[in-house]
Amino acid sequence: MTYPIEKIRADFPILNEKIRNKPLVYLDNAASCQKPQVVIDSLVNLYSHDYANVHRGVHTLSVRSTDLFEAAREKVKSFINAKSEKEIIFVRGATDAVNLVAQTYGKANIHAGDEIIITAMEHHSNIVPWQMLCEEKGAILKVAPMNLAGELLMPEFEALLNAKTKLVSIVHMSNALGTINPVEKIIELAHAQNIPVLLDGAQAIPHMVVDVQALDCDFYVFSGHKLYAPTGVGVLYGKQALLEAMPPYQGGGDMIRTVTFEKSTYAGLPHKFEAGTPSIAEVIGLGAAIGYLNSIGMEAIAAHEAELLAYATEQALKIDGLKIIGEAKEKGGILSFTLHRIHPHDIGTMLDSLGIAIRAGHHCAMPVMDFYKVPATARASFAMYNTKAEIDVLMSGIRNLIEMFG
Ligand code: ALA
Repeated sequence: MTYPIEKIRADFPILNEKIRNKPLVYLDNAASCQKPQVVIDSLVNLYSHDYANVHRGVHTLSVRSTDLFEAAREKVKSFINAKSEKEIIFVRGATDAVNLVAQTYGKANIHAGDEIIITAMEHHSNIVPWQMLCEEKGAILKVAPMNLAGELLMPEFEALLNAKTKLVSIVHMSNALGTINPVEKIIELAHAQNIPVLLDGAQAIPHMVVDVQALDCDFYVFSGHKLYAPTGVGVLYGKQALLEAMPPYQGGGDMIRTVTFEKSTYAGLPHKFEAGTPSIAEVIGLGAAIGYLNSIGMEAIAAHEAELLAYATEQALKIDGLKIIGEAKEKGGILSFTLHRIHPHDIGTMLDSLGIAIRAGHHCAMPVMDFYKVPATARASFAMYNTKAEIDVLMSGIRNLIEMFG
């Protein structure tokens, strides 16, 4: 079946925007994706017809909201093929999920002298929570290195695994480089030594089929806003036995069974980790986004984006002075680059004047910038609604820029 690109583009109202009198070319999807009409409608419909707090009321609106909220959990469960909806914890985003695991699983299981392994290509959200935990506990953060293409060095990774390793926490797809890590192999190696693995899937999940049972990962985290859903919602998937053994994260309403001034007991999964009123509309919006993605099919989306990346790479390689940062063989739809003598922020600003949105900066991955000895990169990142024609606009913008700057 042909990829229904025209229909998809029509489903995203913001793509009709003009930026500086030019048609918007939105290539900042790794920072956040745009929202299809069904997601926008889900918010409007909820607030117009069905909204109340969840899990608390017997009145009709509370029941409706709760049903929609729990239906979204069911959709997430199926989308990532978790065994049970008890394994789906709604959080604020991937960052919140990593912090949750660090502050619960980490606090209970990681002690002085223990080791946690991450990689050289992590986002700050998969570095700093572990540094904070290590500082508190006297544990040690180990960093598996990568090569200049941005590929993890597997023998070096394997050599880091030992009896002191208590957790491997690794990015599935790098937001700064596009690298897709060999997570199956990583999990197999870690599990051979009984070490649990957390995958940071914030960047991976919008671009590929993710099956947590097939992967056999212990934790998988992602954000809604990179998955065409609203901000303020994300998911922590954890294997049920691990989640059950973990202490709660935050205390408050909804996560308790009983409360007295002497002692409180906690609710079962998943509510044990969902203290306070959750992001009700955003969770329901996430459910709508997943429904939309399923209607197109993740395989079809992945194939379309692979074509876009191949085309963009081929075109970029023709531009003198353009250096691609991140050339892993297994790579998702991200083109990070530098231009000889032009600062990435100038690239971003100049491209904006042509209606092209890219990100310029360190992409919340300062150690990656240090590794490549650059202050920042310009990054075009592709989504299900982008086209080769938009890549042509980007490339011609870059050529203009090079001419202007001489
Ligand atoms: N982490 C996001 C990015 O890659 C914000 O731009």
